[in-house]
Amino acid sequence: MQREQWNSRIGFILAAVGSAIGLGNIWRFPYMAYENGGGAFFIPYLFAMISAGIPFMIMEFSLGHKLRGAAPKVFSRLGIHYGLRLEWLGWFQVLIAAVIAVYYVAIIGWTISFLGFSFTQSWGTDTNAFFFNEYLQLGDNSPTSLGVFQPHIALPMAIAWAITSLAIFTGVRRGIERASKIMMPLLFIMVLVLIGRIVFLPGALEGLNYLFQPDFSKILDTKVWSAAYGQIFFTLSVGFAIMLAYSSYLPEKSDINNNAFMTVLINCGFSIMGGIMIFGVLGYMAQEQAKPLTEVVTSGVGLAFVTIPAAINLLPAPYILGPLFFFALVVAGLSSHISILEAVTSAIMDKLHLPRKKAAAIVCGSGFIISMAFATNGGLLLLDLIDYFINNIALLFSCFIELIILTWLFKIADIRDYSNRLSEFTIGIWFELCLRFISPAMLGIILVRNLVNTIN
Ligand code: PHE
Ligand code: NA
Repeated sequence: MQREQWNSRIGFILAAVGSAIGLGNIWRFPYMAYENGGGAFFIPYLFAMISAGIPFMIMEFSLGHKLRGAAPKVFSRLGIHYGLRLEWLGWFQVLIAAVIAVYYVAIIGWTISFLGFSFTQSWGTDTNAFFFNEYLQLGDNSPTSLGVFQPHIALPMAIAWAITSLAIFTGVRRGIERASKIMMPLLFIMVLVLIGRIVFLPGALEGLNYLFQPDFSKILDTKVWSAAYGQIFFTLSVGFAIMLAYSSYLPEKSDINNNAFMTVLINCGFSIMGGIMIFGVLGYMAQEQAKPLTEVVTSGVGLAFVTIPAAINLLPAPYILGPLFFFALVVAGLSSHISILEAVTSAIMDKLHLPRKKAAAIVCGSGFIISMAFATNGGLLLLDLIDYFINNIALLFSCFIELIILTWLFKIADIRDYSNRLSEFTIGIWFELCLRFISPAMLGIILVRNLVNTIN
């Protein structure tokens, strides 16, 4: 079987960017920056981007391109070369991707529901009670009610599955690439329109001031640096099989360095757009409610489904800006979900020599069934638990192991030679220094920190 291939360079970049840009850019990054020194956070963030993000992306693109497989095949081929068995590392990463696939879709489902509510702001004035009690049915439920199935949560999840599996079933070019070419430009336009309106709202600029005002006293804090590195690995979708699978479909002649720089820069640029959008709205909200901004700021799920709906209630033309915001979240989420599913599907295709449709049926079918566990009263509890473990431990562990194995067992200089031969501009020795010393050291420190925090 001939391996599938991207149709165009821009198609590949949009797909990679579609994976990288996700819910995290909109609801994780702004809060991280705000929490960790505001404007001063950009220094560790840029440092992490250059010392870890870009080299890691170049490394994964090179490996996928050279070894032509999903993660298990890539690591097994690499290992054979040196008489080592490494396929397990690939499966470990695929497992992480599979776990993310089933809970990420639950959040996309909520965003689809809220897109629906946003046309009439049917979440009412008490958005906190609406989200937690009415929508998620948490209330003061007894533990025995945790397993109660909620069709109104399951239905939008099924819609998300239908869209993302369709892209996986139809394949790299006609499915994933085409979807990315529609979704990514759409996402950028929607967010630009939102920003264009939001920054002119009263109070918006004070919100941005809060986000960008540097608090240099935090810059020596190790917590800030680990937040920056953690965010970079998470936001770029590196270290868990995704970028390996996507780059295995690159044509022979591909400019690896350039593709990697573009993917990283577009993603990180979009994060700043996300920050402007969120803090603009929060600043407006603070002004309207005559509260200090610090009382309005929230993060994660609370931000997207409680605070933002409350802010939308206050906006001029909420029936336009509200749907735009939630539609942007839906699109960002779906394109990331497609990439997670592809990482798993391509691994199954490689291993079992199955045609795409069969592998996709296995992955999407079982994923759909398992994900229904999140359409219950206990869904949020389960989600929080898994999400914490994945983001704080599994992902970092996977990146750390990958780095150690690749840079200490193999000649990482070979990877640099390989990508430089393919690329218009070449990268220097900093690539090896970052991957051998700086990134593993930072990852190691963060991992230990998180483990200690988890135990405590
Ligand atoms: N990079 C994504 C983001 O920033 C995170 C992600 C991608 C999570 C793919 C899961 C799957 O939101
Ligand atoms: Na991202």
